[in-house]
Amino acid sequence: MEIVRLTPDDAPRFLALRRAMFDAEAMSFRGAAADDAALGETAWRDRLARDHVYAVMQEDGPWLAVGGLSRLAGEKLDHKGLVWGMYAVPAARGTGAAARILDALEEAARTIGLRQLQLTLMADNARAKALYERHGYELYAIEPESVRRGDVYADEALMWKRL
Ligand SMILES: CC(C)(COP(=O)(O)OP(=O)(O)OC[C@H]1O[C@@H](n2cnc3c(N)ncnc32)[C@H](O)[C@@H]1OP(=O)(O)O)[C@@H](O)C(=O)NCCC(=O)NCCS
Repeated sequence: MEIVRLTPDDAPRFLALRRAMFDAEAMSFRGAAADDAALGETAWRDRLARDHVYAVMQEDGPWLAVGGLSRLAGEKLDHKGLVWGMYAVPAARGTGAAARILDALEEAARTIGLRQLQLTLMADNARAKALYERHGYELYAIEPESVRRGDVYADEALMWKRL
């Protein structure tokens, strides 16, 4: 498996993957395809330039897993990073592709001098929670009814890792 850092020119392909991801697993994410569309490709290009976003693939094949890291903005907050958009395509689950992404994000976080990483996941996402725990993330809170889809509300789990 190879891992690459995405660049602004990867925006269309990245957005297509995220559309498929939201279609297939809407309730696994706090984001939605409509949010990506509202942000627009130019803003996503900027985000790919600013954030560390990685994809794992087999040689030149399709992307198997993706994930991103943002540094929080603000003089008093910029010691923290947010891990976002973790996704492995169904065929790549259980292969270690998602683990490769998490390792790369952590390495990037150390390189830019972050002190801690945060992430959120739907509280009932046992598979994601197990992956994050294996990588040293700890649960620190549950946000009740954090995400709404129509009139269905779901709790989010908040996890962190000190680097
Ligand atoms: C979450 C995700 C990125 C994890 O990647 P993965 O390749 O599936 O992860 P792994 O196969 O390493 O599995 C992680 C752990 O969950 C365990 N697991 C597998 N299926 C499980 C299930 N149905 N329930 C609970 N745990 C499960 C695995 O055994 C493994 O545990 P271990 O670390 O103790 O061995 C991937 O499943 C995914 O993209 N899911 C859909 C989108 C999503 O939920 N994204 C995360 C948003 S926060």
